[in-house]
Amino acid sequence: MNIAKQTSIFIFSLLALIPVRADEGMWIPLLLEQTRYQQMKNMGMALSSEDIYSINQSSLKDAIVLFGGGCTGVVVSPQGLLLTNHHCGYGQIQAHSSLEHDYLTDGFWASSFDEELPNPGLSVAFLERMEDVTTQVLQNITPSMNEQERGDSIRRVISRICKANKPEGSYHIEVKPLYKGNQYFMYLYEVYHDVRLVGAPPSAIGKFGGDTDNWVWPRHTGDFSIFRIYAGKDNKPAEYSSDNVPYQPRRHVPVSVSSVRRGDFTIVYGYPAATDEYISSYEMDYLIHQNYPLRVAMRTKRLEIMDGYMQADPAVRIQYAAKYASVSNAWKKWQGVIHGVKRADGLAQKHTYEDRFTQQIQSNSKWVQDYGQLLSQIRRNIEMFAPLNQAWICYPEAITTIELVNFAGFYDALLINSNENVMLPDSLVAVFLYGAEKFYKDYSPQVDRNLFIAMMKAYYDEIPSGYHFDEMTMQLKKHKGSFEQWADEAYKKSVFRSYETIKAALTHPTKKNTKLLANDPFLLIYRSGHKMLDTKIRMPHARLLQQRDSLSRIYMAAQLQVNSGRMFYPDANHTLRVAFGRMEGYSPSDAVEYLPYTTLEGIMEKDNPEIYDYKVPQALKVAYENKDFGRYASGNTVPVCFIASNHTSGGNSGSPVFNGKGELIGLNFDRNWEGTMSDLLYDPDQCRNIVVDIRYVLFVTGKVYGATRIVDEMTVQ
Ligand code: ARG
Ligand code: GLU
Repeated sequence: MNIAKQTSIFIFSLLALIPVRADEGMWIPLLLEQTRYQQMKNMGMALSSEDIYSINQSSLKDAIVLFGGGCTGVVVSPQGLLLTNHHCGYGQIQAHSSLEHDYLTDGFWASSFDEELPNPGLSVAFLERMEDVTTQVLQNITPSMNEQERGDSIRRVISRICKANKPEGSYHIEVKPLYKGNQYFMYLYEVYHDVRLVGAPPSAIGKFGGDTDNWVWPRHTGDFSIFRIYAGKDNKPAEYSSDNVPYQPRRHVPVSVSSVRRGDFTIVYGYPAATDEYISSYEMDYLIHQNYPLRVAMRTKRLEIMDGYMQADPAVRIQYAAKYASVSNAWKKWQGVIHGVKRADGLAQKHTYEDRFTQQIQSNSKWVQDYGQLLSQIRRNIEMFAPLNQAWICYPEAITTIELVNFAGFYDALLINSNENVMLPDSLVAVFLYGAEKFYKDYSPQVDRNLFIAMMKAYYDEIPSGYHFDEMTMQLKKHKGSFEQWADEAYKKSVFRSYETIKAALTHPTKKNTKLLANDPFLLIYRSGHKMLDTKIRMPHARLLQQRDSLSRIYMAAQLQVNSGRMFYPDANHTLRVAFGRMEGYSPSDAVEYLPYTTLEGIMEKDNPEIYDYKVPQALKVAYENKDFGRYASGNTVPVCFIASNHTSGGNSGSPVFNGKGELIGLNFDRNWEGTMSDLLYDPDQCRNIVVDIRYVLFVTGKVYGATRIVDEMTVQ
């Protein structure tokens, strides 16, 4: 053996002794003691695992809520005061806004309980308990069952478990698969329906940096909003009533204004929605070389069109701001994922892992029998799945993003519901017109016509002709291949072209109007497109997906068995998880090193009244000039955001970030662009979550806007 080789083996065995970095993973709170608690303790966790999660005593989990179905929130006062992100409360803040009270622009601070604003439809859920129900769920499963039979049996048992365990009252119960269906957990939640808006900063703070800074570090966004849970007199969930009283939580968390430093231990406790860490190289390859690039390309075209008109016309900017934000959020993230996976050489990592896996299974004849063909089966599945899936995902990224096609689809759904073919029955006209009014308020025919041309053409060019739909083929023939002429005719002729025309047609269901609707270009496009999806894609796509789910489940089981020494965390599935790490910076590119925190100085540096995203509100400037930072100061400024190496995902928005003593130090709201690949591949060097520092939250609320009533409720230490 030569010296170099000997040395490298020596180094390798030394490396094996260094504990792997603990940052990766979203851990199940119930199982912390068996999994990562010891590492957390070594890194600085002072609470016991029972303090974090317990069903026998009050624990940190009792202060955490699933907010509105998609975000996380945390209870910070004995009177049910709740913190989450501004972008999580955005819909509610918007709903209460009007020209007279524009809370999105100006912010909102309730100065008494009476001024707190109810939000019909908004609820928060407290997890009562989680329980491993795998044995029960899988009890009837036999090896001879096919996927359909397996699925049916599982669904039956799950529905029995839910029935048997759901108490009377306002509860939600669900059983969810973990490890791709190798394990099942039951989750029981108590759901509160009266949740009122208490405070929100102006968007110029809550969304400072807008879409420009979205997914980006360094960041200066005060992404928080404040709500309160109300309950009946018995402290139990109740529908909204003016008699309801502030909810008294089992637990509220204290807030820390002492300094957080680089290297300090942090945990994020919340509801990450979805990750995919255990896929094969074939799936990763498909995602980063085909799936995401196609979606990104489609969205780039859409965003360019929207942006052009938004820049030119302030009215269009207002109409399309929310649409633009939601299209661009995933668009920007996917580009980050592609960049990150390539930079970390994710495919090579997967290949190395799979080569080792293939070797490992050779050591056991049962494994060879069970898993010997697995990777090549996965490869074949992906090869068949990919072309079908490209058409399947391109359709909604292109065709139904044309607003009138989508809107005609809404009309068609109402028709189908009422067993009608062309004309809505009287009973549904009002429902439809209510939706129509909202739709046309934010609709610009000019923007949509250009979207039509670009998106029809993009679909036509990208997707094999076998998946073009009849109406597309016919119209292009009629218009000699001109998408422009096709668009001109469609937008001129369609009954859906304006609120007035569709209202007139529906309120006068004459023969002529019926005929017009029956031949409406957008209804025809929508129906023809769906017919194509139904006849050519839906069934084979579902079959391949089902096969893929089953292969993924087996591959996951194989990985768990073959690497029995490794601790696996289950992929995120929108259930309560703990992630831990440290406050730390990173190096995004050669010679660049980021610090892990930002300050008020950075907001003032970015201030630019010419750029919409960077207009700093006057009140914040005044507070900055006065330098009255009180207990929120760090040095002679106020900390604004920080980053840490906690493994988080979408759904972790609004999640509390705690120090080792379980005190609230911030609210999670984003990730860094270079690290968005953490949903597929966690790289401790690059992946960071972005947090708004609680001191900035309190400074804005109490000092800048004087809402001391709200701050005084909290336990600040
Ligand atoms: N990127 C964050 C998340 O995924 C925040 C999105 C909202 N903010 C925005 N500027 N669009 O949800
Ligand atoms: N902003 C995301 C959310 O709304 C969280 C950021 C992320 O994906 O990490 O859930």
